[in-house]
Amino acid sequence: MTEPKKLFVKTYGCQMNVYDSQRMQDVLAPLGYQSVDSAEGADMVILNTCHIREKAAEKVFSDLGRVRKHKEAKEASGGDKMIVAVAGCVAQAEGAELMRREPMVDMVFGPQTYHRLPEMVARANRAIGRNRIIDTDFPAEEKFDHLPAQVSNQGYSAFLAIQEGCDKFCTFCVVPYTRGAEYSRPAMDVIGEARQLVAHGTRELTLLGQNVNAYHGEAPNGGEWSLGRLLRELAEIDGLDRIRYTTSHPRDVDDDLIAAHRDLKKLMPFLHLPVQAGSDRVLQAMNRKHDNADYRDIAKRLKDACPDLALSSDFIVGFPGESDKDFEDTMDIVRDITFIQAFSFKYSPRPGTPASAMELQVPEKVKTERIMRLQALLAEQQLEFNRNSVGREMDVLLERRGKYEGQLVGKSPYMQPVHVSGLPETALGQIVRLKITEALPNSLGGELVDATNNGQKSERNVA
Ligand code: SAH
Ligand code: SF4
Ligand code: F3S
Repeated sequence: MTEPKKLFVKTYGCQMNVYDSQRMQDVLAPLGYQSVDSAEGADMVILNTCHIREKAAEKVFSDLGRVRKHKEAKEASGGDKMIVAVAGCVAQAEGAELMRREPMVDMVFGPQTYHRLPEMVARANRAIGRNRIIDTDFPAEEKFDHLPAQVSNQGYSAFLAIQEGCDKFCTFCVVPYTRGAEYSRPAMDVIGEARQLVAHGTRELTLLGQNVNAYHGEAPNGGEWSLGRLLRELAEIDGLDRIRYTTSHPRDVDDDLIAAHRDLKKLMPFLHLPVQAGSDRVLQAMNRKHDNADYRDIAKRLKDACPDLALSSDFIVGFPGESDKDFEDTMDIVRDITFIQAFSFKYSPRPGTPASAMELQVPEKVKTERIMRLQALLAEQQLEFNRNSVGREMDVLLERRGKYEGQLVGKSPYMQPVHVSGLPETALGQIVRLKITEALPNSLGGELVDATNNGQKSERNVA
């Protein structure tokens, strides 16, 4: 038997990149590649990159410096060569530049071409000469049709990409350029992949898309299904207990989706719905296609349909032209809606996007002041929600061992990590009802409600 080849994949950026990295491993497994957790001595290293903000992109170049050392050490010690590949959104946006700046990079490919990896690897491994490969096409064939039909075990909580790309063109964002046009996978493909994951032991599924609720996949009998319709079908899968989706866009929250939140117990009452900013002037300059009132209305309709529902969001501060008054509108919408979790960023001008050429860029110092105020408010809201969880009972999907002996860690319906002690490891993968006894800024502690249950019984009717 030939030795397995060592593959090291490092993932940056969003959950879609996490999904893509897993699929790259599925594509390379038949070629004998097995994943390892360090670049040292690896036969192939893939950096699956993110271009969303300047800092994210810069990190790739510093990591490449470290990979270069491992490559040189391996080859100096007489080992086989190490293939160094850059994948993902930096590869898509700056592939040619990357090849020029980093002569040791063998391969550059974008998010839409990784199904071609076997052919790229064969070319890179050719004995004679050195073949550097760059593939940043948006191919006519659909990648999902060429990926292996089998997905590997992804654990109790898994990602499933159902939609990719974006046609919204927010003026700050690189995603429409790096991921390409919006595409929805056929509903039957999604259901097939979900069933496979559940057969491997997955109990919680997070459906992914850059604009996941713009989903309009081919229906089994012709026509198209919305996300709301697809969710109803997925909720029928036995053994699948929790469903989530991300990232959604306020513009695409339709009645079907709101009704799904009303009707489906398995659909978790926690939704990431980025608003970005509170000022109508800024939202318009961002080309968000919704205003402050639209967002408030959608949040209200969702909470009316599902009273337990809590929201999280993304924010950008210091978008070009954002005045003090505009920023106060962001603070106001946060105060009024309340978010139990959030990501907030200083605006980062990205090459090729309309906002990067706008006048009135906001000085760094002002961005810093604003983000500190916003983050303080958001942290307060998160802690408040966590504190109010104390005394509540929550169903928790136990996912891994904790830091301390005898401790397990799971996830609440609201994505809070919950620690519990005294349960056997056989309880991993179970959903147990815990009474929350302790709240920290980023996690909770709990105790089993029904001690006779002891985590052995599977709790199916989750909140
Ligand atoms: N598809 C998602 C967002 C993907 S990017 C959506 O439409 O909401 C994730 C987050 O990064 C965005 O929500 C935004 O808050 C932030 N972001 C994107 N481009 C940015 C930029 N140029 N500067 C700062 N933050 C940015
Ligand atoms: Fe980017 Fe806007 Fe598309 Fe989200 S909706 S991916 S922020 S362009
Ligand atoms: Fe980053 Fe690309 Fe995701 S730019 S956020 S990895 S879509």
